[in-house]
Amino acid sequence: MGNMKLTLKVWRQNGPNDKGRMETYPVNDVSEDMSFLEMLDVLNDQLVREGKDPIAFDHDCREGICGMCSLFINGEAHGPGRGITTCQLHMRKFKDGDTIYVEPWRSAAFPVIKDLATNRSAFDRIQAAGGFVSVNTSGNLVDGNAVPIPKDDADKAFDAATCIGCGACVATCPNGSAMLFTAAKVSQLSLLPQGKPEAKRRALAMVEQMDKEGFGNCSNTGACEVECPKGISLEHIARLNRDYLAATVTKE
Ligand code: SF4
Ligand code: FES
Repeated sequence: MGNMKLTLKVWRQNGPNDKGRMETYPVNDVSEDMSFLEMLDVLNDQLVREGKDPIAFDHDCREGICGMCSLFINGEAHGPGRGITTCQLHMRKFKDGDTIYVEPWRSAAFPVIKDLATNRSAFDRIQAAGGFVSVNTSGNLVDGNAVPIPKDDADKAFDAATCIGCGACVATCPNGSAMLFTAAKVSQLSLLPQGKPEAKRRALAMVEQMDKEGFGNCSNTGACEVECPKGISLEHIARLNRDYLAATVTKE
């Protein structure tokens, strides 16, 4: 198959206080083997050569691990396809002559820094509020592998731990809720014996921080699970709700 000609409609915004607007760019010579981010690199080369401002967008690992890439493409978080991040999306998902709309994550809690790059430090603050195990690191540690853990619990904790903190769940939720992210971060610890002693304090602190950051309530639509590149299950939200309820009724 020959190379494609595309029309890109890209959100441009100079900073958090700028109103922002869609701009149109033709991109020629796009190979179906390029990743979506490589296609944006081609467009940025073109803009730089024309003396124009390149488009700001987040990326780091470009292999589905770091959670930095974060584009809303044709109205879908991480674009068409399931179980992939934007950096794993390839141009073979599109066809010659297509018009593609590219926008940043839209959430009051993720303000736009510039163009397609948003500030997702709210997630870091939720994590810092309780997403850890208080461990004595003085040298008297018990080897984690010496603690027997039921296989089912270990598997569920591992599944929760695959959350890469990309924020697609927030961008997809009609209420901009961070419940799937927070639930994954709570579950990966509270399912394990090492994380249980602090489970109540953790659930209260992380939910409280989530509310402070301005994320909305869970919309119960399940859209977050559908668009999550790591397939984080809604089951974790149910677990967080149980942990949170137990923590509020026994709060001292
Ligand atoms: S739950 Fe899924 S969509 Fe949300 S931050 Fe984690 S990996 Fe991304
Ligand atoms: S750039 Fe790291 S997950 Fe996409």
